[in-house]
Amino acid sequence: SLDLAQLDLKALVRTIPDYPKAGILFRDITTLIEHPEGFRESVERLANAHRGLGITHVAGIEARGFIFGAGVAIALGVGFVPVRKKGKLPGQTIGQNYALEYGVDTIEIHDDVLDRQHRVLLVDDLIATGGTAIAAVGLIRRTGAMLEHAGFVIDLPDLGGAAKLEAEGVAVNSLITFE
Ligand code: PRP
Ligand code: ADE
Repeated sequence: SLDLAQLDLKALVRTIPDYPKAGILFRDITTLIEHPEGFRESVERLANAHRGLGITHVAGIEARGFIFGAGVAIALGVGFVPVRKKGKLPGQTIGQNYALEYGVDTIEIHDDVLDRQHRVLLVDDLIATGGTAIAAVGLIRRTGAMLEHAGFVIDLPDLGGAAKLEAEGVAVNSLITFE
């Protein structure tokens, strides 16, 4: 029988070399989420790492952060806040530019959803340089909300993002590392 606590999530992540550019080892979570127990276990482990913290909202980063963040929000019984790429949200937004491992982009959130009363958990599939997550933390903190915890399925520690987040006062939980 399948013991979910022993399930090796790392073995379910596929690596594709030279995508989207030469030299990048792309860590592809589509093989993980296609596996029913792998997907469920990823969400459960991220949720379980953040119980009892008074989290009021999960913020997930478009696009791959929506897949896991939505499940974590349901598991924790809190609302979900989409952190979207520029121009996608219909209401009034605040935005933040950032640099990626392989490009530049802008993220936005609605400006009327979060305030000082809220404690937000940031969720994404992967942290590499941390550019995306640091931008999201800054954006969410601009609303007055508290952001002290972030969860990722995958950490690429050599790229330093998790350490950067910790230096900003964010406790980081990740399920898998690729050195
Ligand atoms: C990927 C990933 C993270 C980010 C990590 O998203 O899902 O959000 O890059 O990189 P960083 O730590 O160096 O910032 P991407 O921007 O490729 O968008 P996608 O989720 O829409 O594919
Ligand atoms: N986002 C940033 N770097 C990445 C990588 N190496 N694999 C998958 N997604 C990423």
